[in-house]
Amino acid sequence: MSSVEIPRETWATRIGFIFAAVGSAVGLGNIWRFPFQVGQEGGAAFLVMYLLFILAVGFPAMLVEFVVGRYTERNPVGALREIGSGAWRYVGWIFIATGFVILSYYSVVAGWTIRYTVLGLQDGYLADAAEAEAQFVTLASGLDAIVLHALFMAAVILIVGAGIKRGIELAVTVMVPAIIVIVVGLAVYAATLEGAGDAYAYYLSPDLGVIAANWTSILPAAAGQAFFTLSLGMGVMITYASYLGEDRNLAEDGAIVIGFDTAIAFVTGLIVFPILFTAGVDPADPGAGAIFVSLAAAFGDLTLGWLVGAVFFGTVAIAALSSAISLMEVVVSYVVDEHAVDRRVAALAIGGGIFVLGIPSAYDLVLLDLFDLFADQILLVLGGLLLAILVGWILSDLAVEELSLGIGDLGGYGTAWIWAVRIPVVLVLIVALVLGVLDYLEFLTGPFAEWLAD
Ligand code: PHE
Repeated sequence: MSSVEIPRETWATRIGFIFAAVGSAVGLGNIWRFPFQVGQEGGAAFLVMYLLFILAVGFPAMLVEFVVGRYTERNPVGALREIGSGAWRYVGWIFIATGFVILSYYSVVAGWTIRYTVLGLQDGYLADAAEAEAQFVTLASGLDAIVLHALFMAAVILIVGAGIKRGIELAVTVMVPAIIVIVVGLAVYAATLEGAGDAYAYYLSPDLGVIAANWTSILPAAAGQAFFTLSLGMGVMITYASYLGEDRNLAEDGAIVIGFDTAIAFVTGLIVFPILFTAGVDPADPGAGAIFVSLAAAFGDLTLGWLVGAVFFGTVAIAALSSAISLMEVVVSYVVDEHAVDRRVAALAIGGGIFVLGIPSAYDLVLLDLFDLFADQILLVLGGLLLAILVGWILSDLAVEELSLGIGDLGGYGTAWIWAVRIPVVLVLIVALVLGVLDYLEFLTGPFAEWLAD
């Protein structure tokens, strides 16, 4: 197109990159998905497995994406075309597709959080569980949900359209510190609640017998959660690392990002469980949508619950925004790099497309599940798996050399990292993929078939 080469943007500061990666990692996965997974999978036992997977699988997998991004300085499609040969060259496309699909319904859920923020400020929350449930059903799908989905996507388009430094970096520099401060503040508040003692006992004293009895469901859930919460398997960390422009210690950056993400998820448990216990809600009950219902009902029960609830849901909305921009950047970086389209035009067109794809999810919760399960349990795992095989088994020398830039001689750590990628990461992802496909088939022949028949 144009003959003038526009230099590729880079982050302005080291902390800017770290904030952006933390902003991507900390999102609905931490504040919405994590607590209900803990509840569904047996409380503290799940927490222990989750922490284990973060270290053994999440950390090495994040370094894989960092290394690929910094080495190629390209979007995921361009990156894989550069390092892969044969069919490997097309793996980047999976990342683009995953980002596109995930953002389409992620934005719908983010829209709910905006709605619930406003709800607290305007009318307060309903304490009666049945009424709260009926309210959720009205708010979560239909015109309301579509409008809020549009609003949220508009914010994403504005930020991503403004560029790396002036858009994403600026936005996360404000949002990430705000999230940290508010989450800690809410945890301090939750500690004063009557149910706090019981909640801590539930959340913090693992019963290893629970793991032994339920490992077939705890293991894949913990592995999936570790991947999702760290924004892995979608090319986000490839894309963000591609804007580094200098050789820094990626292992240290990765450890910082993972530390923050894990801390925020952990502290969220210290908020959510005391609230649920105080309101007398069994934490094993709420599922994906139900956590909105039970939390809202709990806020309806507490003194000043409308205010605490609005702050809570508002924080979730901000965290969702700082993650959504990273998903959108994966797709936008591809169009900007490969087709030399103006960034603002690309953001608008892609954001518009994602909005349209999300309309079914905003229309019916079953369709949201249809997209969510497919993207989260199949596409994301598949992308992560193929990348781990390519980097761990085929390009390991190159990967170790790239990681050592900015660190120095890795010694045995380089080998340890590669073997962590070769065996634990690959193995966990294969198991997760098989289970994910089975689970999806079950969904297609069960709830989805029933929905179609109606
Ligand atoms: N890590 C984000 C969260 O925890 C989700 C996400 C996944 C965001 C992938 C971007 C990319 O909510």
